Amino acid sequence: MSGSYQPLSKVRPNDVCWCGSGLKFKRCHRPTTDRVTPAALSPTRSVPAEIERPHYAEHGGTDDRDEPMVKSADVIERMRRTGAAAGEILRRVGEAVAPGVTTDELDELCHQLCIEAGGYPSPLNYGTSPPFPKSVCTSVNEVICHGIPDARTLRDGDIINLDVTLFREGVHGDTNATWEVGSVDPESRRLIEVTKQCTWRGIQAVTPGRPVSDIGRAIQDHAESRGFSVVRAFVGHGVGTEFHTRPEILHYFHPRNDTVMEVGMTFTIEPMIAVGAWQHQIWDDGWTAVTVDGKRTAQFEHTLVVTESGAELLTLHPDRQWSGSGGDPASD
Ligand code: MF3
Ligand code: CO
Ligand code: CO
Repeated sequence: MSGSYQPLSKVRPNDVCWCGSGLKFKRCHRPTTDRVTPAALSPTRSVPAEIERPHYAEHGGTDDRDEPMVKSADVIERMRRTGAAAGEILRRVGEAVAPGVTTDELDELCHQLCIEAGGYPSPLNYGTSPPFPKSVCTSVNEVICHGIPDARTLRDGDIINLDVTLFREGVHGDTNATWEVGSVDPESRRLIEVTKQCTWRGIQAVTPGRPVSDIGRAIQDHAESRGFSVVRAFVGHGVGTEFHTRPEILHYFHPRNDTVMEVGMTFTIEPMIAVGAWQHQIWDDGWTAVTVDGKRTAQFEHTLVVTESGAELLTLHPDRQWSGSGGDPASD
């Protein structure tokens, strides 16, 4: 679909869709009208003084200080513990997803669970203009990522991605998953299933000595063969003592995404897969990323370390399971 995207305002409902499907625009890529809209934010939540904070916690800022891509055994061991705790928090917040629950209530729960685990919720006050105001990202339906928890109530038929990052023992564990809210339409269920499979295939492509572009190729091939598209603007990233650092991991194939994987590198794989157009817009809040056509996206994310034999996932639950809907990631 890249390159063929046209301004939607110029297309009439009965025109043939621009995407080449041969269908009428109104039966194909016409934007959805029922959009997610912003709602009120609750007051900022505080973190007890005794909890160790990342450097941006007081004054905001991006966490892009340089850090070696290959981590020491000590950093990896701390990332195992922090990652497993992040995975457990993601599962528990996901268990609270239900019609009638607000995304702010999910934030309150995530915030409490991070503190109970002895860690800091990494999103809180991360970034600039403005810093992220909450402790988890809650991205509903056409929100691709970085949705800000607010007073919006989850509705039967919604889908929601929860992105949990925990900072503990001086390192971050970053993981997310997508859930169905109540009873969800078949296309959305398929989207979630395929997105989980894409994440799995990206992980299976991790091999020392190979360029990271193998990961993007595996994800793009699977998504597009199932009729979905890959969001381009948001990428996987190195993670460790920094939240976002080298290398960049594209979720589509690009020959210049050519960092060679080495044993001990730690990074995330976190594809965002779209039913329709992959192009995005950002809300006036400076964070919320939505699809231009209002069609849905899903996402899964794990933090991993490259090993001799492939990838070790650092953000599985303590029982080695994945969060979210979509069944067995290795199926299909
Ligand atoms: N957890 C997100 C990621 O996967 C980053 C969120 S940045 C925030 O990289 F500020 F929105 F939290
Ligand atoms: Co991430
Ligand atoms: Co994340």
